[in-house]
Amino acid sequence: MDRKTALLASDASGITRAAELLRQGGLVALPTETVYGLGGDATNGEAVAGIFAAKGRPSFNPLIVHLPDASEAGRYAVLSPEAEALAERFWPGPLTLVLPMRADTELSPLVSAGLPNVALRVPALELARGLLRETGRPVAAPSANRSGRVSPTRAAHVMDGLSGRIDAVLDGGPADVGVESTIVGLWDVPRLLRPGGLPAEEIEEALGRPLAGPPDGGAPAAPGMLASHYAPGASVRLGATGIEVGEVLLGFGDAPGAALNLSPAGDLREAAANLFGYLRDLDGMAPVIAVSPIPETGLGRAINDRLRRAAAPR
Ligand code: TXA
Ligand code: MG
Repeated sequence: MDRKTALLASDASGITRAAELLRQGGLVALPTETVYGLGGDATNGEAVAGIFAAKGRPSFNPLIVHLPDASEAGRYAVLSPEAEALAERFWPGPLTLVLPMRADTELSPLVSAGLPNVALRVPALELARGLLRETGRPVAAPSANRSGRVSPTRAAHVMDGLSGRIDAVLDGGPADVGVESTIVGLWDVPRLLRPGGLPAEEIEEALGRPLAGPPDGGAPAAPGMLASHYAPGASVRLGATGIEVGEVLLGFGDAPGAALNLSPAGDLREAAANLFGYLRDLDGMAPVIAVSPIPETGLGRAINDRLRRAAAPR
């Protein structure tokens, strides 16, 4: 696996080149408002297999299919009235819906790893939607990191992990949400499969009922939820109110002595946007990254979820 990875600018010629590469079965990392994704044509089994190979990811992990418009969802999945309502309200945006797959789609079966459900998302970033529109194919894209590492929020992060393994990165600047999409399953009762960039409270309000948890037993419905998943090289200690020998502090709110602060003002949106970039920046500075306590509300749920995984034994 040794190819030249082009860094494409976010202008018309960059988008055209990225779309052309995707249509040819190439692998292109694309910016979204959440994190960068590693895209491949979801109808091309070899392209999808290439995504797993480039990431070094276990191939049983199903992928999110990215679409330019909510109106295209019905080509791939069956939307219940609740699914329609969430799509209408929150797409484009940082929400992924896991829905019963239509029998007659042209999607490669590898995309859903053989599951009867497919994950769909319409990203909010105009650059991503423009690329998807110009590509004219559904694009399967996991986060554009090597398997087990933190998700990339800048083109340079993608290059760090995947340079030489993919065809191109479309540089859309820093991602502004900074954590991955919220994943909701809608094949029976509405389920929160992964907290993310859209606060679960807003989804519950739109549905008028609480979200259930992931189904229990057997394989995890979202393998990205495996304990040690978002791991920097350093180990991570949570809920830190000070630092010990061998630690650097990743602060939140008032955190004297912090090497970096996710949000000095205690703003969860700002903290989410900074999270993965700061974990990368601090990695290698000390054996342990200590992290200030972060409230378990709104985007704080997604931030704490990622941090608990980063802190899990591995
Ligand atoms: O914000 C995001 O969601 C980013 C950007 C690139 O869109 N993508 C992302 O993809 O985070 P990934 O592959 O790193 O995480 C997707 C999660 C995985 O945990 C996967 O197991 C779950 O979605 N998933 C995908 N398809 C599924 C399905 N059919 N049923 C259940 N879970 C599914
Ligand atoms: Mg991921």
